[in-house]
Amino acid sequence: MGLALTTGGESHGPALVAILTGLPAGLVLDRDAIDADLRRRQQGYGRSPRQQIETDAVEVLAGLRHGRTLGTPLALLVANRDHRNWTWGMSPWPPEGEPEGKGKAAVTLPRPGHADLAGAQKYGLADVRDALERASARHTAVHVAAGAVAKALLRAIGVEVAGSVHDEAGLQTRVDEARAARDTVGGVVEVRARGVPPGLGSYATKESRLDARLAAAVMGIQAVKGVEIGEGFRLADLRGSEAHDEIVRDETGLRRTSNRAGGVEAGVSNGEEIVVRAAMKPLPTLMKPLGSVDLDTGQPAEALVERSDVAAVEALAVVAEASVAWELAVAAREKFGGDSLGDFVGAWRAYLERIDWTAR
Ligand SMILES: Cc1cc2nc3c(=O)[nH]c(=O)nc-3n(C[C@H](O)[C@H](O)[C@H](O)COP(=O)(O)O)c2cc1C
Repeated sequence: MGLALTTGGESHGPALVAILTGLPAGLVLDRDAIDADLRRRQQGYGRSPRQQIETDAVEVLAGLRHGRTLGTPLALLVANRDHRNWTWGMSPWPPEGEPEGKGKAAVTLPRPGHADLAGAQKYGLADVRDALERASARHTAVHVAAGAVAKALLRAIGVEVAGSVHDEAGLQTRVDEARAARDTVGGVVEVRARGVPPGLGSYATKESRLDARLAAAVMGIQAVKGVEIGEGFRLADLRGSEAHDEIVRDETGLRRTSNRAGGVEAGVSNGEEIVVRAAMKPLPTLMKPLGSVDLDTGQPAEALVERSDVAAVEALAVVAEASVAWELAVAAREKFGGDSLGDFVGAWRAYLERIDWTAR
């Protein structure tokens, strides 16, 4: 069975949930490691005070016994502690009593760059909150939890995935300047995966191409507007002789002398480090709001202002790491299969022996 992930949850609803199917039985999970990734997602320069309210921690509801996966659906939950301030406004059922707390007034001032106007038009919403609650990046928390599970699976076959801010120098200054101007910033993050064997993904169909899947996974994260694999856009300016990675044979197998392809050729991993970069736009909620239109009155108005990050680039690095890890785990499950972790790892070992390749 293929590895699959379904998530649910609104930003200020009771909780975020994820169901992971297709994990092998016998994978040992470490609660502290999952929670550490959840904490990493919450940190970073320029995050909003919400991160002090939420101290994310994973709860496991199904699929795990004594720390080992059962091979059954793994159900994860991350509670929204801030929900206590929104019990009326985000009540799943029609709320009882007088309106109180946050979210009681309908939002009618769509923010340029956010889901507000598109959501109101698409779903016919009178209160834009119905759109922004799910569009918000809050639910990336459960994607990070799922990514931590994927990383545990990948580690069993020697793969390590790490995300970072691409150009960290100067980030704090840019954030400070933007905050002072009541503005926001974006940035670029990079995810690298080492130890990925050749042969994950396929050129057989465009859906099976690993580069397409990695790009979709990262582009699927809120505020990501550009993705490149390896040298990406820079390759367009090079000649073929400068762009492609020559093949040599060394003690670890057939390798490349460079890695401009970013570890993927023809939609298939080639054994070099996988390198994925993503460009994040400046966050759309501005303390000095842009012009908008009040959907209630049709009159010009300033866009909604609510608590918001000035920057979330460091958080994006963690979310992108989780998303890349998840896609690589899906591709590894396709390639090596197995009901138990032992079967999965055994198939990986046999394959590496056949192609005479070892991770560097
Ligand atoms: C980790 C993370 C945190 C974010 N935090 C905010 C935020 O505090 N305020 C905001 O306006 N947008 C934030 N965003 C971006 C919005 O969720 C996103 O721009 C919006 O949903 C519209 O989607 P799009 O940018 O993909 O078009 C964040 C994105 C990520 C990945």
